[in-house]
Amino acid sequence: MNVELIAFPTIADQRGKLCFFEEGQPFYFPIKRLYWIYDVPQLAIRGAHAHKQLRQVLVCINGSVELGLNDGSSVQKVLLKSPNAGLYIDKMIWRDITNFSSDAVLLILASEKYSEDDYYRNYEDFLSASQIS
Ligand code: TYD
Repeated sequence: MNVELIAFPTIADQRGKLCFFEEGQPFYFPIKRLYWIYDVPQLAIRGAHAHKQLRQVLVCINGSVELGLNDGSSVQKVLLKSPNAGLYIDKMIWRDITNFSSDAVLLILASEKYSEDDYYRNYEDFLSASQIS
């Protein structure tokens, strides 16, 4: 599955820690949009979609969240719980995002501006498309 955990470079000194992510390292995609999700009720399910073209890096900059990932032929679970880790998610991967801690803030770096046409929100449609792509 085309997902990968990224350990962000971290500069630590007596004043605290600083992490960074630059376009091109370790994946190239233009960062055209940022958005962030917070104040999510514990039982809420976010995501529940796949993207036709969009690629993303997800960073849980505070708290923790769980991701259920599915590329149409395999599934994987990932726990994001550290501000110095990110998860790259390629296009055509269904994601369910659950178990937000009450303090969770999930930041998403996205390769495209928002377009509803880029979404598969119906799982069966995604599955059919993933078998032929
Ligand atoms: P959605 O992508 O379904 O959120 P999540 O993945 O967290 O479940 O988006 C929720 C709503 O917000 C939907 O009406 C589309 C809108 N939206 C924007 O207008 N711009 C954006 O950049 C994003 C990500 C969503």
